[in-house]
Amino acid sequence: MKPDMRVSFAGIELTNPVIAASGTFGYGIEFEEIVSLDRLGAFVTKGISLEPMAGHAAPRLIHTAAGMLNAIGLQNLGVKEYVAKKLPPMQRYPQCKVIVNVFGCTVSEYVSVIEQLNQAEGIAAYELNVSCPNVHAGGMAFGADANSLEYLVSRAKTKSARPLIVKLSPNVTSIAHMAHVAAEAGADALSVVNTFLGMAIDPEERKPLLTNVTGGLSGPAIKPIALRMVYDAAKAVSVPILGMGGIINTEDAVEFMLAGATAVQVGTASYADPRAVERLVKGLESWCKSHQMERVASLTGALEVPRA
Ligand SMILES: Cc1cc2nc3c(=O)[nH]c(=O)nc-3n(C[C@H](O)[C@H](O)[C@H](O)COP(=O)(O)O)c2cc1C
Repeated sequence: MKPDMRVSFAGIELTNPVIAASGTFGYGIEFEEIVSLDRLGAFVTKGISLEPMAGHAAPRLIHTAAGMLNAIGLQNLGVKEYVAKKLPPMQRYPQCKVIVNVFGCTVSEYVSVIEQLNQAEGIAAYELNVSCPNVHAGGMAFGADANSLEYLVSRAKTKSARPLIVKLSPNVTSIAHMAHVAAEAGADALSVVNTFLGMAIDPEERKPLLTNVTGGLSGPAIKPIALRMVYDAAKAVSVPILGMGGIINTEDAVEFMLAGATAVQVGTASYADPRAVERLVKGLESWCKSHQMERVASLTGALEVPRA
């Protein structure tokens, strides 16, 4: 029997729980020659800002022992051009839901991007990247401070005509607390988590390898920590969680769902294999069949924790 692969969160129904993560799948349409886009549950655009941004100078991607450090600097073409050029061709793939990742340097920039996106057709939800520096708070990330997070999410929620997913920063002391703050401020769902701040050094040159000095660590290196964060966040809130961080194979995706994720996102894996997301869709379906599962959704939160 074919398992039911559908999942739903925040009023959105996906044909399956596998989503391409922000910043690793372009604007989606660039992958149409390589990937059967209609097989994906959804994809998240790279971060979209009010004005176009060139990003940081190279080098901005470094391989590490078990992952990748990036300091792309949120390069993107800006909301106007995104809506005019990149969003319309995605209508050819109606099964693949489009989630737009939004960021700004101030709360009003975030709000302006959302207001412009509200006018466009073909978007299922917004994902708020709160890992950006807040210029009004000395450059501290919105997502690193509970008050800034609360204010940003509540303002964005008021202006949003679509479900609002808040993508939490892992660079905090308590992810459970930040999850609770975002949910109380109006988040319809949470993405857990963004990249972990890290750095790499050339010992001979005595210089940082990234032009930006520090960058975000992703890939298998972060998986156990990201998994623990999904587990902690899922216990703290009742809104759905989209789990991510180092997912490479089917079993990784299953683990994130057992820890409490309703759906999973796949980022760095697409760099090694551009078909990784599609491969995971098939893998998860086979896993459900071989485990005689009728519904993939029954994995969510089904972790059995032994009593102490
Ligand atoms: C090159 C690169 C660019 C990224 N750009 C964004 C971005 O624009 N907005 C965002 O919210 N997350 C961004 N991320 C974070 C990923 O979406 C994801 O949260 C993170 O990499 C962890 O998942 P992974 O280990 O599967 O890559 C980026 C990650 C990478 C590797």
